[in-house]
Amino acid sequence: MSAVVEFDAVSVRRGQSHLLNDLSLTVREGEHWVVLGPNGAGKTTLLQLAGARMHPTTGTVQLLEEELGRVDVFELRPRIGFTSANLAQQTPGSEIVRDLVLTAAYGVLGRWTEEYEESDVQRANDLLAAFRIGDLADRPFATLSEGERKRAQIARSLMTDPELLLLDEPASGLDLGGREELLQALTEILGSKNAPTTITVTHHVEEIPPGVTHALLLKDGGTVAAGPIDEALTSENLTETFDVSVVLDEQEGRYSARAHFAAPERRRR
Ligand SMILES: Nc1ncnc2c1ncn2[C@@H]1O[C@H](COP(=O)(O)OP(=O)(O)OP(=O)(O)O)[C@@H](O)[C@H]1O
Ligand SMILES: [Mg+2]
Repeated sequence: MSAVVEFDAVSVRRGQSHLLNDLSLTVREGEHWVVLGPNGAGKTTLLQLAGARMHPTTGTVQLLEEELGRVDVFELRPRIGFTSANLAQQTPGSEIVRDLVLTAAYGVLGRWTEEYEESDVQRANDLLAAFRIGDLADRPFATLSEGERKRAQIARSLMTDPELLLLDEPASGLDLGGREELLQALTEILGSKNAPTTITVTHHVEEIPPGVTHALLLKDGGTVAAGPIDEALTSENLTETFDVSVVLDEQEGRYSARAHFAAPERRRR
């Protein structure tokens, strides 16, 4: 299987700060990765590189067999679906939901004067229906709930039928029902024929969709563990990553974690 994302000794520095430090990673076609790590670990920075939104300070990044710095990123980006809270903030509130999905075909936010093929409109409608928000297609984005917005954004990121899909905290801010619905939709994507290779960043193991195959645990811009999820996602590795003693459970592809604190010593009388 060919490498879709290949980081070789990648570092990203801003002033004195090391956002990523000598990171090497290979994500192959058909793999589904989850990236976990504490606030500030470098997860979003990693996705920015994998989405051709940023260049490394040192090291090389290959995406879809093209090397960043030697390729026109505007040709690369339509092949990569990307969603993040940042992108959501840039979406004009007046944008009609169907147009939000449709405009991804042109790599723009905000409909202007583009003419769209009937087949593009049909695809946008199909994606919205697949995420169970088909009835919201004519509503302005600002009127959607948080969960509906997340689903609309993921529908948008799939519009160009990308080879690589990057999701930065797709389930953050959702209530229990919203999270479960989103996970179900993501699991369907991961299991579908011709599914894109995916990298999902999350803070919580409970938000890992069944179907994820690999895990990367990041801390201070470096790798704690990376590999098949059964090997990389362990209580020991989570404990090291988050600096708190963690017990991990897995049931039918769903994970849960809780801190494990030593029982306090009985006070002597
Ligand atoms: N332009 C910048 N200059 C200096 N430091 C920066 C810059 N951009 C990001 N950082 C720092 O780099 C670190 C990594 O940021 P990043 O957004 O990748 O973390 P993250 O793992 O996504 O965190 P979170 O879980 O909070 O989203 C953070 O400590 C952040 O403050
Ligand atoms: Mg982040």
